[in-house]
Parts: sequence; structure tokens; C-alpha cells
Amino acid sequence: MTSESLTILVTGGTSGIGRAIVEHFAANHHRVLFTGRNASRAHDITSAFPDGQVTYIPADFGSFSSVAEAAKQIAALIPRLDVLIHNAGTWEMAFSETRDGIETNFAVNHLSPMLLTLWLLPVLNTESGRIVITSSGAHRRNILDLEDPEWRRKPYDGVATYSQSKLCNLLLVVKLASLLSRTGIAVNAVHPGMVHTELFRNMGSRDWTGYPDARDGARGAIYAATAPELAHSSGHYIYREHDDPNRTPMAWDPNLADQLWEVSLRYLKAFLPGQMPG
Ligand SMILES: NC(=O)c1ccc[n+]([C@@H]2O[C@H](COP(=O)([O-])OP(=O)(O)OC[C@H]3O[C@@H](n4cnc5c(N)ncnc54)[C@H](OP(=O)(O)O)[C@@H]3O)[C@@H](O)[C@H]2O)c1
Repeated sequence: MTSESLTILVTGGTSGIGRAIVEHFAANHHRVLFTGRNASRAHDITSAFPDGQVTYIPADFGSFSSVAEAAKQIAALIPRLDVLIHNAGTWEMAFSETRDGIETNFAVNHLSPMLLTLWLLPVLNTESGRIVITSSGAHRRNILDLEDPEWRRKPYDGVATYSQSKLCNLLLVVKLASLLSRTGIAVNAVHPGMVHTELFRNMGSRDWTGYPDARDGARGAIYAATAPELAHSSGHYIYREHDDPNRTPMAWDPNLADQLWEVSLRYLKAFLPGQMPG
């Protein structure tokens, strides 16, 4: 693990795994920015680190203009970002639309992280920066319908749309790793394992006895953000502090990654930054 002080952005830092990541890096004297929607929870976190090293940036991932605005605010605050950790995510079981009118699991979990990345690339440390994207074992359902990614032409299925969004996270890693291969930026995915957080709030009650907590779920992102052996090394799928072999072949497919990229750009076209990679 690194002893250097890094500037780290964590999305969805207000609860669960994201909060555990923020608190870990703040306690280790890194400069931490985190996004969320809940100002009161954000205040609880920032006030525990009163020396100003932790900054809350409001951002609603259900609104592309909010994501772009947050990126501009971040770029104005910091000269250089060392680590971008995509953690914000939701699991909607019933169909809903974001403020942009897009199915929520697809928009919040995949499209908004992609948009935020595109906006922040100009400030990302090109020599040794890292992008970490939180996926899930749910990607193993191998669900991807690029003709109907919002499930508008078939009965809505929240397990399918969430699982698809987590496969999209891995395909985004494949695409970004390829686009950034001439830079020093490493792009990797993590999966937190099954840990007790608010992600499952729409699924009824469950017995969580014996399951790890959010701090355990944060281990993979912390490792991917700082492990020296991962500097300049992209395309890993990490659980805790090691590569997880349980990534399905679909999630490595560069053709699918290209197709998803094109479909996603069409959704994002009115909100893209002037400068694009590739
Ligand atoms: N827990 C698990 O077992 C598990 C397993 C596999 C993968 N994951 C992944 O881990 C990540 C973190 O989830 P978690 O388990 O820690 O869940 P969580 O406790 O519900 O935290 C989710 C975070 O994402 C933010 N978020 C949700 N919807 C948002 C939106 N529309 N705009 C902006 N921010 C939004 C939340 O902010 P607000 O406070 O504003 O709602 C919160 O900070 C997710 O990507 C999830 O898919 C979790």
C-alpha cells in the first residue's frame, strides 16, 4: 500500500461501502472528495475530519446535468485527481425513470459513471492515476440487451436490469483500459462480495447474520486504489486483495464493450464534454 498522499474521489460516499472507503482514506491522511445526495449524512462524515481534507460534492446520478456539474466543481477544486472510485449504485426492483427519463438501474449504475469519467479524464493523473469501478458477482447472470437496455419492450425485471448494469461496469473497464492504454492510468473493477448495506432496501427482510459489513466490502476498492502491483496494470476484477477468476467471458468481450460504448454515447450525447478520449 502507498504512503504517498493521494487525491481520491469516491462516488456514493454517504453510506455503505462508499462511506467505509471515504473513512479509510481520510483516516490515512489522503485528500478525499465524495459525492452523494444526502447533505446531512455527508455532514456527519466531513465533520469527523475537521481539517478540511474531506469534501462533499452533491451529485444526483439520476441527472446527467448534475453529474456534469459535479465534475466541473471537482475539476475546479483540485489540480489533479489520482484515484477515481466509482461506487455509487442502486438496485431498483420496480421500473422507474431518472430525471433524464432513463431506466434507473442502467442510468445510475452505468451511464452516469461513464459520463463522470469522461468529464474527469482531463484532471486524472496520466502518469499513475487509477480508475476503480465497483461491479458485482451479479454480472455473472450474463444479461445484456443492447437493443432494449431499459427493459421497455419486455416485462420489467429489476434483477435483470441491475445485473446488466453490473456487467456494463466490467465492459466499461474493458473499453476504458483500451482507450487509456497509452497513458499511465490503470482501470480496474472490484466486487465487494455480499455485504450488509442499504443496497438491499427494496428486497424485503433478510437474515444478515454472518455476513460481512461495509468495511469488508471496501477492501477491494482500497486495494485497487493503492496496491503498488496494480499501478499501470488494467483489466483486473478484484475481490478483497486478489484477482477473482469468476468473471464471465462476456465481461471480457471487447466487441461487446465497443457496442455498449456506442449505445451509451447516444444516451449521453447532449451532456458530453468537449474533449473526448480516443
Ligand atoms: N452490498 C453488497 O453486497 C454489494 C454487492 C455487490 C456490489 N455492490 C455495489 O457496491 C456499491 C455500493 O453499494 P452499497 O452496498 O454500499 O449500497 P448503499 O449503502 O445503498 O450505498 C449506495 C451509495 O450510492 C449512492 N447512490 C444511490 N443512488 C444514487 C443516485 N441516484 N445518485 C447519486 N448517488 C446515489 C447512495 O447515495 P444516497 O445516500 O444519496 O442514496 C450511497 O452513497 C454499488 O455500486 C453496488 O452495486 C454492493
